Amino acid sequence: MIPNDSYELLDFGKGRKLERLGGVLLDRTSPPAETFTMTEPHSLWKQADGTFWRNDGLKGKWSWRCRLPEPWILKTNHFDLELKPTEVGHLGIFPEQSPNWEWIYAKTKDFLTCRPAFRVLNLFAYTGGSTLAAAAAMNDAGKTARDNDSFFTVHVDSAKNIVQWARNNAMISALENAPIRWIAEDALKFVQREIKRGRKYDAIILDPPTYGHGTKGEVWKMERHLPELLDGCARLIEDSPAFVLLTAHSPGMDARKLGKILEYHFPGKGTCETYSMSIKTQTGRILPSGEAARMIWGLS
Ligand SMILES: C[S@@+](CC[C@H](N)C(=O)[O-])C[C@H]1O[C@@H](n2cnc3c(N)ncnc32)[C@H](O)[C@@H]1O
Repeated sequence: MIPNDSYELLDFGKGRKLERLGGVLLDRTSPPAETFTMTEPHSLWKQADGTFWRNDGLKGKWSWRCRLPEPWILKTNHFDLELKPTEVGHLGIFPEQSPNWEWIYAKTKDFLTCRPAFRVLNLFAYTGGSTLAAAAAMNDAGKTARDNDSFFTVHVDSAKNIVQWARNNAMISALENAPIRWIAEDALKFVQREIKRGRKYDAIILDPPTYGHGTKGEVWKMERHLPELLDGCARLIEDSPAFVLLTAHSPGMDARKLGKILEYHFPGKGTCETYSMSIKTQTGRILPSGEAARMIWGLS
């Protein structure tokens, strides 16, 4: 889903990774790379255009040897993302999600051919990768904002500036007319409100952080709040379930556990698959990058 000339992991080890994103070579912090040893020569790492070091918990400093492209764009097969360096070393993309985007695109397209409505909810939606994968499938199938009552994707994130970033990603991807609803709200509150409003969905995607905050400072703790959130999600899709995709980067949340959680909250006829997410170098080395479980119901 992300072509090699857009993104490449060149090396990792000692808690760092060397990647090329949208033509810029970066050396940045990577906790999952802690237990590995770098295999590429030091001379390659020294060519990095930008370097990020943590100096204050999760926060840190970037140093640059080049001017960044303006805008700095990373192209995927179905949409583009603008990259921006943040104070925690993130850039607005988690490349390990790329196979999930391909899956969301393909499954959304399949379901569109056989359903009178298809409504996707993306919670903790960040800069919109999964939102745009579903929206691109709808757009490519000719479902535009005019079909909005039956075919749409709802993007929910509590950080207003991140929602704005995602909206801009839709624009630069020529998906500004795709049926997307942008919501800056606490994920759990939004789900509870949608239940009260009698709204229904077909597919739910969620990538909850270990710890986070709603728009009004509501505390999100994965361990404490995930069961309540998934109970709500189950009610939202109970009439016409199509798929649920749950990903996590939290300690103790391995793929098997995520699968068991999905099977508990979405009992019935869905088929559950679990897998570990990762990013691969050209030489085939694998950097573990989170866990995933997805449940899919019959395409009928
Ligand atoms: C781990 S990131 C999601 C990454 C994204 N799914 C991707 O792969 O590109 C977590 C996101 O959850 C959001 N968030 C944290 N707490 C939240 C809450 N209580 N309600 C809604 N969004 C929240 C953050 O603003 C952040 O954008």
